[in-house]
Amino acid sequence: MKDKVVFITGAKGGLGMFVTQRFLAAGATVVGASRSIAREDFPDSNFVAMPVDFTKAAAVREAVESVVKRCGKLDVLVHVLGGFAGGKTIADTDDATWQQMQDLNLTSAFYVLRAAIPHLRKSGNGRIIAIGSLTAVEPNAGLGAYVTFKAALAMLVRTVALENKDAGLTANVILPGTMDTPANRKAMPKADFSKWLQPANVADLALWLADERSAQVTGALFPIDGKFLLDSCGAAGGPRKTSTGHWPTIMKAAAAVKSQSTSGPVPQRTPFYTF
Ligand SMILES: NC(=O)c1ccc[n+]([C@@H]2O[C@H](COP(=O)([O-])OP(=O)(O)OC[C@H]3O[C@@H](n4cnc5c(N)ncnc54)[C@H](OP(=O)(O)O)[C@@H]3O)[C@@H](O)[C@H]2O)c1
Repeated sequence: MKDKVVFITGAKGGLGMFVTQRFLAAGATVVGASRSIAREDFPDSNFVAMPVDFTKAAAVREAVESVVKRCGKLDVLVHVLGGFAGGKTIADTDDATWQQMQDLNLTSAFYVLRAAIPHLRKSGNGRIIAIGSLTAVEPNAGLGAYVTFKAALAMLVRTVALENKDAGLTANVILPGTMDTPANRKAMPKADFSKWLQPANVADLALWLADERSAQVTGALFPIDGKFLLDSCGAAGGPRKTSTGHWPTIMKAAAAVKSQSTSGPVPQRTPFYTF
């Protein structure tokens, strides 16, 4: 990664911190963005802090242009930014929550992709890695606003993959399960943290998707869920026990909503798409 310029959104969050550190350790020049990010967050000479609000189209375009102006090019975009809300059925979801989930999980991605694609195409082997969610590939009662926009994010990125194959630009989505982050530990203090996905493993996958070895991988969704996926699918990849099997602790309220819903057919294993 030594000659690569990498732009990371949500760079100082629970996962973003690991992703940023991983790319810096691999020798990349990393421009890390969030609203409050500062130079001191990552004391590395290859790190550039870029404060930006990704809900503002003009600010995002300006940020991407200033990455290219400052670093001369853009090779990799890792779009980590997202936001979570849950615990309400669609019937009870208010406008503000719907709008916030759309802004953070979908529109921010549209803004940054639109601004970055022309530069990533010029790179010749550009890379886009977006962070979705394992919840985005099947319905989850009580998480409607979140999963709707995470699902749309996956389709947005797969579309970008198709549209930019000609330029050697790949675009893939990582779908993490519940991660072991400080915010999750605080929100769910009684959970078994040992079962949660380690953000460092997600960062490793993002790094692999950014390097030469993944040149032929595009338009793919990568479910990654630590011990839950293994527990519920089994080694042979059988069906999950329940559709909430991955999320026993994600939100008590969401689980309560789920338990009131009519039980349907057992959902199949999270699919792995590629083309
Ligand atoms: N945590 C999980 O268990 C889990 C599971 C599955 C998927 N995911 C996904 O993984 C990604 C990372 O999750 P996380 O838990 O690490 O998130 P997080 O800790 O909440 O971090 C979010 C980051 O986004 C930044 N941010 C928030 N609003 C912003 C805005 N309007 N403009 C610019 N930056 C903004 C925050 O920094 P500032 O406050 O400085 O802006 C922060 O750096 C998200 O896409 C999430 O949906 C998480």
